[in-house]
Amino acid sequence: MRTPLIAGNWKMNGDQDMATALCHEITADAQTLSNVEVLLCPPFTLLLVVESALEGSRCQLGAQDMDINANGAFTGQISAAMLKDCGCKYVILGHSERRAIYGESDLLVAEKIKIAVAGGLTAILCVGESREERESGITEQVIERQIQVVIDIVGIQSFNNLVIAYEPVWAIGTGLTATPDQAQQVHNSIRQQLASLDASIADTCRILYGGSMKPDNARELLEKPDIDGGLIGGAALNAQDFLKICQATCPTA
Ligand code: PGA
Repeated sequence: MRTPLIAGNWKMNGDQDMATALCHEITADAQTLSNVEVLLCPPFTLLLVVESALEGSRCQLGAQDMDINANGAFTGQISAAMLKDCGCKYVILGHSERRAIYGESDLLVAEKIKIAVAGGLTAILCVGESREERESGITEQVIERQIQVVIDIVGIQSFNNLVIAYEPVWAIGTGLTATPDQAQQVHNSIRQQLASLDASIADTCRILYGGSMKPDNARELLEKPDIDGGLIGGAALNAQDFLKICQATCPTA
């Protein structure tokens, strides 16, 4: 049984006041949600503020990126150990904005995943196709390649400590969403890829959907058998919208 995970990716948004207010509103209601794991991923500068605001709640803390190096002369970078030190349990890696804007390759993302897992963090590996790739009919090959590089570098067993987020690039921040059937098809092909190597890992590995998930489309996406949660951008900055998405994981809520 896979416990649904709803993760908020705040991206480069927020200040201390906003973070504190958002966390208080979320934690007050999150206490009443059962059978869903709630995760907040603020920018680095707000990790400690959010950690303290989440204290005693059932919400978890995560970061949006990290460096592959452990320490030393890497100006501006943050290591896995630093994230652990701030109370992070998760780290998002290979987000399409990191790949597209900062040129992160499949290989670099896989190296980061390896360091994160070795450092005791649960990595959220983001994969997804561009609009051109979808229109050319190569969506599944693209996703398979992105995941295969990680399997080659970290091994299938590491997927015990991994969450996959399928985020079609054309759906991120655009208001366009993959239809539940489109998303389910890709999620299922990811699970088949894992199952060809290890059936039990395929069965337990959570695969989130991300890309304009909102309160009004969350339930129909989350009802699909291979969609185990969401990676939420814009809607994670509004406590009520985020909570409604969390509630959408509970069939009876
Ligand atoms: P969005 O972002 O929900 O604003 O589309 C999702 C993401 O980038 O993780």
